[in-house]
This record gives sequence, C-alpha cells and structure tokens, in this order.
Amino acid sequence: MLLQIQNLAKRYGESSVFRDVSLSLAGGEFVALVGESGVGKSTLLNCIAGLDRADAGRIVLAGTELATLDDDACARLRRVHVGFVFQAFHVLPHLPVAENVALPLWLAGVGRTDGLARAEAALAAVGLQGLGARWPAQLSGGQLQRVAIARAVVHRPQLILADEPTGNLDPGTAAVVLEVLRREVRETGAACLLVTHSATAAAMADRTLHLTPEGTSALTVAA
Ligand SMILES: Nc1ncnc2c1ncn2[C@@H]1O[C@H](COP(=O)(O)OP(=O)(O)OP(=O)(O)O)[C@@H](O)[C@H]1O
Ligand SMILES: [Mg+2]
Repeated sequence: MLLQIQNLAKRYGESSVFRDVSLSLAGGEFVALVGESGVGKSTLLNCIAGLDRADAGRIVLAGTELATLDDDACARLRRVHVGFVFQAFHVLPHLPVAENVALPLWLAGVGRTDGLARAEAALAAVGLQGLGARWPAQLSGGQLQRVAIARAVVHRPQLILADEPTGNLDPGTAAVVLEVLRREVRETGAACLLVTHSATAAAMADRTLHLTPEGTSALTVAA
C-alpha cells in the first residue's frame, strides 16, 4: 500500500479539526476527498505531504512513518514521492513557466538543461507545448492550473495530492484539467488524492471518501 493513514487526529490549540481519519491508497488509484468547507481537507493533505504535523495517529507513506522523520527528512521524502497541486496554483510569478515546472527537478539535483528538457516534455503532456518561455502572468487560469499539474508530476511522484485544482475554473476548462490529471495517473501508475467540491470531479474518481470531524467514510464506490 502506497499510503496508509490510521486514526489520524489534528487540532489547532483547543479546537479539534478532525479525528479518527483512516484511509489507504494503492498505486494507480484515483480517489476523491469531499467534505464541507473547514472540515480539514487541506490540512489532511498538508499532513500527508509532511507540511503539517498531525497530533495523533499514523501516516505511512511509501513504507516510512512520517512521525519518525525530522523536517529535513520529511522534505526529502516529499520531494521524491509527492507531487502537490495547491488550491491556489502557487506558480512563482518571477520565473518563466518552464522554470516553474523544472524547479522540483533542480531541487532534486537534476542538471539545469536536463531539468528544462523534462519540464518542456511535462508541459507538452498537459497541452502547453511551446509556452515554457512565457511568464505566468501571460497565461489563463486553466493554463496556470495545468502548469501546476505539470510541476507536480514532472519528477514522476508515486503520490499526487491535488487540492481543488478546478476550484477557480469554468466547467469546460475544469474538465480539461481533470482529464489531464486522470491521464497522468493512468500513464504513470501514481495514486491521486483529489480534494474537490465538484460532483463531476468526484464522479470520475475510482472511489470517493467523505471527510467529517469524526473521520472518513466511503461515500460511493464507482463500478
Ligand atoms: N494555521 C491554522 N491555525 C488555526 N486554525 C487553522 C489553521 N489552518 C487551518 N485552520 C482551521 O482548520 C480547519 C480546517 O481548515 P482546512 O483549510 O483544512 O479546511 P478545508 O476542508 O480545506 O476547507 P475548504 O474546503 O474551505 O478549503 C478550519 O476550521 C480552519 O479555520
Ligand atoms: Mg481547503
């Protein structure tokens, strides 16, 4: 199992965000995570990526329990195994598009030229060939979200965490972005945990998990 979470709990000070969250994700699975605003979906993704710490329970990612790692080791594990598509793109405005996408590879020690070549390939895979030299400000919202996906998958992570990647997009563009994500999962065998408020997005997942303050439950199981 690529990701196993058992009885995870998270608090901010005195107030509990969620408790008893348990879920497993295998390679190749595309799973939607739904739940009311403020229930802790982004917090859960941050905990899985090691960007935030849980207060109780276990997260085992690629065979390693996150709680046993210090922040540096956590960051290394994340750089290798996780691709994160953030709720608000987080594309760096002062870097050309291709450099935004190459960044995770450079951080992992890949050479500059190699990194740029792989970034151009990742951009082509999301339908943005030829746009690598542009500045982020010169792209549309849907194109920026595809840049964020290209950046999240350029290092071929085993786990893709996507936090409402279609939240700011019109339905047509959202469908394109979702299909890009779906195809990445199909072609690379990565697992994807997709936070979404969209029924259309949840419908294209293999299964849907519902996050509540009392934990996770399976909402629907697609055929
Ligand atoms: N740094 C923080 N300090 C205190 N409380 C926080 C912090 N970050 C988040 N919270 C609270 O934790 C809860 C969960 O927040 P989170 O962003 O994970 O929700 P969410 O399910 O992603 O919501 P949305 O669907 O609106 O994105 C919220 O009540 C939020 O106010
Ligand atoms: Mg959120």
